[in-house]
Amino acid sequence: GKGGLRGTIIDITDRKHLEAQLIQAQKMESIGTLAGGIAHDFNNLLGIIVGNISLAQTYLQSDHQPHRLLMAAEKASFQARDLVQQLIGVSHGVSMTKLTVDLTEMIRDAALFALSSSQVTCDLVLHKDLWAVICDPTLIRQAIAQVVRNACEASPQGGRIEVEARNLALEKGTIPSLQAGRYLSISITDHGPGIPPDLLPRIFDPYFSGKERGIQKGMGLGLAIVYTIVKRHEGHIEARSVVGQGTTFDIYLPATATPAIGLKAAANT
Ligand SMILES: Nc1ncnc2c1ncn2[C@@H]1O[C@H](COP(=O)(O)OP(=O)(O)OP(=O)(O)O)[C@@H](O)[C@H]1O
Ligand SMILES: [Mg+2]
Repeated sequence: GKGGLRGTIIDITDRKHLEAQLIQAQKMESIGTLAGGIAHDFNNLLGIIVGNISLAQTYLQSDHQPHRLLMAAEKASFQARDLVQQLIGVSHGVSMTKLTVDLTEMIRDAALFALSSSQVTCDLVLHKDLWAVICDPTLIRQAIAQVVRNACEASPQGGRIEVEARNLALEKGTIPSLQAGRYLSISITDHGPGIPPDLLPRIFDPYFSGKERGIQKGMGLGLAIVYTIVKRHEGHIEARSVVGQGTTFDIYLPATATPAIGLKAAANT
């Protein structure tokens, strides 16, 4: 050419995407290490706290004001114990069960469990003959329940959410961080307020919460735990949201054509 500029345009969207994922993975690794280290001591301390609360309660009439306060303290201690349990579950060095399972029933259970003490209802669209997933069913169940709980918390009173699971034969490049192959795709949709675009990149960060902090409200650990669980299964999770309309979380888990063993049978081995 005559003095013109020549060059090649390289699309770095995918690379940026992968870098963002790497940063996320590192953040989660540090949480995992921390959790693995302190969780057991923490659990012992919680045992002492809960034990003493229960003991103190035996000295009080049930209509006594301190009795109610202790009940609240006890409830919070149980929540803390659950949280520690979940952190231990995703911490590094804890080995993961690997079973080939059909998740159909488990997805139903997890969703209904997460909605059980709410007014929100659920449309379940569980396609037939879902491919099996090689996974730790307890962890996957936890992950789905967390996302459904968020959807529920975002929904208006008496609202409806959708949970859909289907097979997906993914081609290379469709989702940058995933290889081509068979996946189980699980989508959880709510019709809540949605997530503003500037917050969307932060929702998987540990301790990011748009909710008021408190015993009942967010710790900001739910999605960080979900993210870790999905990554440990070599899957992928992302959120799509339109402010004012709602949010969809898509979870992709590597699937297999190998027939699944029943979860109940697996529990007996
Ligand atoms: N379905 C949703 N609709 C709108 N916002 C959401 C949705 N899911 C997550 N978010 C936003 O992402 C934040 C992080 O979610 P995450 O589950 O990690 O924490 P949390 O729900 O606030 O607390 P925790 O799960 O620890 O009780 C939420 O506080 C909320 O602001
Ligand atoms: Mg949450």
